[in-house]
Amino acid sequence: MSTNFTSLSTSADKEEKYMFLLPQLKSLLKGEEDFVARLSTAMAVLKEAFDFLWVGIYMVNDRNLIVGPFQGPVACLRIPFGKGVCGKSWEQKEAIIVPDVDQFPGHIACSSLSRSEIVVPAFGENKEVVFLIDVDSSELNTFDLIDLKYLNQLIEIIIEKN
Ligand code: SME
Repeated sequence: MSTNFTSLSTSADKEEKYMFLLPQLKSLLKGEEDFVARLSTAMAVLKEAFDFLWVGIYMVNDRNLIVGPFQGPVACLRIPFGKGVCGKSWEQKEAIIVPDVDQFPGHIACSSLSRSEIVVPAFGENKEVVFLIDVDSSELNTFDLIDLKYLNQLIEIIIEKN
């Protein structure tokens, strides 16, 4: 199986890219039970496909988020509950799309290059947030409901038992 996620033409719109990469990710993860391996591979696939500035995981740990597998510049290691976009998404138990990080009160600038952002929470069986996917772009207005839809599918692929 090819793992060349950049093989789609650059004109392919992002929905096509997601539809191309998600089945490949599912196939890559088949039979792998290690959670860190699943998270890491998913983040690498996302970074390869879109070349976003930063893609990564924040894991819920007591009253903090702790950075998990990621691709991109060094980022904050811990984010308190309710702080920044990630902490707010955790608190509100819902995804947040930020078209312009400068307009989001309390945004935590791990990289000065970040201009827009999406954070999508993943829920455990008790409906509590277990981890979040955070994706940062160096362009304004990068993320919309298409990203939300497919990042939720990506979370399903990561957490599903196979
Ligand atoms: N911008 C995030 C912090 C994490 S970095 O973007 C990787 C926030 O405000 O929560």
